[in-house]
Amino acid sequence: MCGIVGYVGRAEAAPILLDGLRRLEYRGYDSAGVAIVDGDHVETRKCAGRIAGLSKLMAEHPAPGTYGISHTRWATHGKPTDQNAHPHFDESGKLALVHNGVIENYQQIKDALLQEGPHHFTSETDTEVLAHLVGKIYDDSAVGVVDPRRHKALLVEALRTALQQVIGTYGIALVHADIPDFIVGARRGSPLVLGVGKDENFLASDVSAIVAHTRDAVYLNDFDLVAVERDKFEISSLAGERGSHAISKVEFTAEDIKKGDYPHYMLKEIFEQPGSVRDAMRGRLSVEECTAKLGGLNMTPAQLRDVGRVVLTGCGTALHAGMVGEYLIEQLAHIPVEVEYASEFRHRNTPMTTDTLVFAISQSGETADTLGALRESKRKGHRTLGICNNVASTIARESDGGVYMHAGPEIGVAATKSFTSQVVILTLIGLLLGRMRHLSTAEGSSIIAALESLPEKIEQILKMSDQIKEVAKKYVKATGMLFFGRQFNFPIALEAALKLKEITYLYAEGHPSAELKHGVIALVKPELPSVFIAPDDAVFSKNMNNIEQVRARKGPIIAVTTASGAAKLKGIADDIITVPDADDIVMPVLTVIPLQLFAYHLAVALGRDVDKPRNLAKSVTVE
Ligand code: M6R
Repeated sequence: MCGIVGYVGRAEAAPILLDGLRRLEYRGYDSAGVAIVDGDHVETRKCAGRIAGLSKLMAEHPAPGTYGISHTRWATHGKPTDQNAHPHFDESGKLALVHNGVIENYQQIKDALLQEGPHHFTSETDTEVLAHLVGKIYDDSAVGVVDPRRHKALLVEALRTALQQVIGTYGIALVHADIPDFIVGARRGSPLVLGVGKDENFLASDVSAIVAHTRDAVYLNDFDLVAVERDKFEISSLAGERGSHAISKVEFTAEDIKKGDYPHYMLKEIFEQPGSVRDAMRGRLSVEECTAKLGGLNMTPAQLRDVGRVVLTGCGTALHAGMVGEYLIEQLAHIPVEVEYASEFRHRNTPMTTDTLVFAISQSGETADTLGALRESKRKGHRTLGICNNVASTIARESDGGVYMHAGPEIGVAATKSFTSQVVILTLIGLLLGRMRHLSTAEGSSIIAALESLPEKIEQILKMSDQIKEVAKKYVKATGMLFFGRQFNFPIALEAALKLKEITYLYAEGHPSAELKHGVIALVKPELPSVFIAPDDAVFSKNMNNIEQVRARKGPIIAVTTASGAAKLKGIADDIITVPDADDIVMPVLTVIPLQLFAYHLAVALGRDVDKPRNLAKSVTVE
């Protein structure tokens, strides 16, 4: 949801900013721009479209200078045009500002500014209004001040005063032509991290933008402001108090965020799943006690035993993982589980008992709706834990404890490896809670064995990638697709449909198989294939009934099943993808992978931009 990069140092800023933006492009790719200070004026280059367009523009019209700010946009206020691209300027044209977030009261601020004096707005954005406000406050306060150190303090103060008037969310970076080698940043609701280098410092929405230069990072908190110079930085709060923040080591390197030999990040991340699933379990299985060890939950055995209800909340793919978790935890621990869309949970008054344990599930740990749900749950006094991949994220830091995914950076906009890691972690939680209740040691051992067998079985599925590609290519003319599954595999139908629509732009729906006859069957026709996720389990024969119902209406059928299921579906399904046999408990981790591959190969065959699908962004930090 928009990416920000700032640099102040001794090197040319342009290549550092462009490289950082490229790494943040997953956050938004509607437009891009830079503002670099050259002597006493700010040079800006910006354009609608991707970073590649901005790079070209900058190659034709270089912008020299050793400090500046930059932005890649996911449009909220105003269309994705050159004019609306960030950076935006104040009335004087000396202050340039980039922003990630939404200024909700921008219209009131704009009206007030226009009443006070002439302001010329050239864009439709809320950000430009903020730039004018900060610029005006600064200009008013700087009249007659000659000491350059005072100018720095006044600029920070101007941003603080402006932000005190703002309703909304922001990650901000700004520069001023009159104040050399100086960047000011601020955050509320949109992430901002300071990269600490040697004689150079960075600001970014995400460490991946700066990890090639430094692995020392300071994660800003909401309501922090930061004044950044080459050799120092100073953090203060919106209320004006000085802050002190620890410098953390970024846990991955620039190498980890390279695509390597893969054509797309999505494919790389699908293929990383044997390792990421292994890492989600690493050190967390106790073979002796036949249970899981999750110290990060920060809960005593007595507290875990007292849990009477679980709420799992998240958005998109994370929500689907939660839906698998509902089946898992209810089956393993016999504790009632509810899965709530984070966006709904935070705004409705879900009845909560005092023994309710809440999990906020989020790969990025920055999703605004999930963060809002976490805060609402905590405000109500519930223990609220996180299941996050990004260890430095706001959700990870604000939760009372949790379980990290350790899946490594996920760059592809379509979530893949984070989903399987989330499901594995939810299985561990179910196992732990179950073993404190009715699950026997034998049952615990068999779940551990099932979990431990996953990486090898995933390897087997990945070897089928070319075969799945051939199946996908047969369906390039499909007008859409329906996905069906029962029990643990019903959420997989939802997730497979989400993957397909995100990256192929085909219409897709996921349903419990039995719902077919309650309405969806009206859609069935030869141009609309149905995908059944139907391993040969206790509900296979029920799935079979639904498959026959589709077949009778000439709907093409693709089945994801196990070897014995494949034998029974021969001559019935048009295409069969066979996954290794496994315990029902872990089956969703296996059945989802061929469907990730299926969506990927179909999207490639359709010529889609797999890693950057239209209108989407990886991390959704606005509501
Ligand atoms: O970072 P999060 O896990 O909180 O993200 C939640 C959703 O925005 C995300 O899963 C989204 O649905 C993905 N693009 C799905 O592939």
